[in-house]
Parts: sequence; structure tokens; C-alpha cells
Amino acid sequence: MRVTKWLGGLVAGAGMMLAASAASAVTIGFAQTGSESDWRTAFSKDMQETAKKMGIELKFSDAQQKEENQLKAVRSFIAQRVDAIIIAPLVVSGWDQVLKEAKAANIPVFLADRDVDTPDKSLFVTRISADFNLEGRLAGAWLAAASKGSCQIVELQGTVGSAPAIERKKGFEAVLSLFPDMKIVKSQSGDFTTSGGKEVMESFIKATNGLQGICAVFAHNDNMQLGAIQAMKEAGLHPGKDVLMVSVDGVPDMFKAMLAGDANCSVELKSDIGQYIYPVVLEYLKGKHDWPKWVKIPSDVHTPADAADVLKKRGG
Ligand code: AHR
Repeated sequence: MRVTKWLGGLVAGAGMMLAASAASAVTIGFAQTGSESDWRTAFSKDMQETAKKMGIELKFSDAQQKEENQLKAVRSFIAQRVDAIIIAPLVVSGWDQVLKEAKAANIPVFLADRDVDTPDKSLFVTRISADFNLEGRLAGAWLAAASKGSCQIVELQGTVGSAPAIERKKGFEAVLSLFPDMKIVKSQSGDFTTSGGKEVMESFIKATNGLQGICAVFAHNDNMQLGAIQAMKEAGLHPGKDVLMVSVDGVPDMFKAMLAGDANCSVELKSDIGQYIYPVVLEYLKGKHDWPKWVKIPSDVHTPADAADVLKKRGG
């Protein structure tokens, strides 16, 4: 189900729920992945600010990109008897046991952003997030059009084992499978960070004698792409001009890079998830339990053509 279909009503009704939730002082534990990217920082800020506006008591934990920290945080929320737990899981595996513990304690769990790989879907109520596979397909489709279906690509993957890295790759490769002259020739993880993207791109530049024959860089997020841009410029290359640059997130610095001519496309991942997920949690706690397992937030494609408008709308 698309978020726009039914969340419109929920968001419109959120005002009424603010008063109700403030009165009942709901406590939610949020186990965040880390602060590896500008997108993640914006998402954490949104979750904290929206909780405050809605009168929700939020217990926030930053796992610093370590799954053991996230598991610890969830166990601590269970011990504190919070009303509900939201998790943005670092990687898809390793969640069954702790989810069972939350279920045994009668604490509902909601997934925000990333997914878990569990055979027992009853262990969480719902996941509210974008479709990462679609993001990969949108990036691939943009590149197929921009390169006229002929392109040697280097890929900067996100955190190994994470839902966005797995699904963006799959979606991108699904488009490539339709174009025999489009190929990924090098691929490595930069862990979703600017420094990781820079380091991996430096090694790609060396291995390909200055990106010879390379037509595009596909990065699973903007921060790695921003790192790649730095590495390419330091090597005397011209990202966005000699090499097509496509990535995912739509963070402000990527719009600035597009306006400077250093990047060509970013698929936007919306970071304002609080307005969608908190009303669902509050409704659940009031007794509405029949949620779809996945509520999708739409993704938009941005290029230099609309970069200035987007930045202006966002007030930057
Ligand atoms: O899970 C979403 C991804 O995580 C974002 O694309 C990336 O920037 C973040 O680190």
C-alpha cells in the first residue's frame, strides 16, 4: 500500500491525536542505526522533533553502526517497559530473538526505513519506508536514458547486509539486465559514509588508470557520492561532465553538487518519517491492529533541472 493513499487522512488527523497522545504520555523507544550520513542525521532530527511536537516521550539510541548496540538498546527499552519500540535495523539479519523478547513482553515493534529478514512477520506490526528496490530501478532507468543504454559503471555499495544496499543493487541490476551494453565493472562497499566513498573511489581510480572507459558512478547514497566527487576532483577528473554521477537520498549537499555541475541525478529518500510512523503507533496503542506489513513512502528523481527549486523549497 502507498503511504499517500491512507496516511493523508492520518496526518490530517494527527492534530487531534496530539492532544490525546500528550494526555496519555506515550513512551516510545527508537533504536536508530547510527549517524553515518546526512540523510540519517536529518531522519534522527525529524523523529526527535516530531515526537516532541506530538507530546510523545522518545527514548533515542544511536547504535553507531553496530548491530550489537542496537540489540542492547532494544533490550533496554523492553526492560524500561516502553509502550512501543521503533527500529531502523542496521542489517537485515539477527533480529528474530530480540523481536521474540519484545513480543513476549507485549511491546509492539515498528520498523522505520530499513527492513529485517525474518520468517515470522508477526514479530513486528508494520514497516514504514521507501521502496529501496524501486530507488535502484529509478537510478538505473535514469542512467539507461542518459547513456543511451551503453555504459561501464563503477558502484559504491552501502553497508553490507543492509536492506538499502541489497535492494538498491538488485533494482539497479534489474534495469541493467535489459541493456546488454550496460555493465557494473567494479563494485565495493563504502559503508554509506563520505570517507568510505572517497576511499573506495580512490582505489577505483587507481585500478582503472583514472577511470578510463568508465561512463558512470552509481552510489547507494549521496554521501558516498560526495566522497567520490572529492576523490575524482583530486585526481584531476571531472565528475558530472566526463563521468555520469547518479546516487540516492537527495540531501542538500547533493543538490548543491548538481547545481555546480558535479553530479547528474539523485533519487530522493524522504527523511520526514515521524509524521507517518507516530500516528500509526498511537493508533495501534489505541486498538487499531490491522496494518499492512509494509507502507511505502514514494521516491522522486531529481536532476540539475529542478535542483534549485528543491533547495529553495527546503529553505536552503
Ligand atoms: O537506510 C537508508 C540509507 O541509510 C540512506 O540512503 C543512507 O544515506 C543511510 O545511511
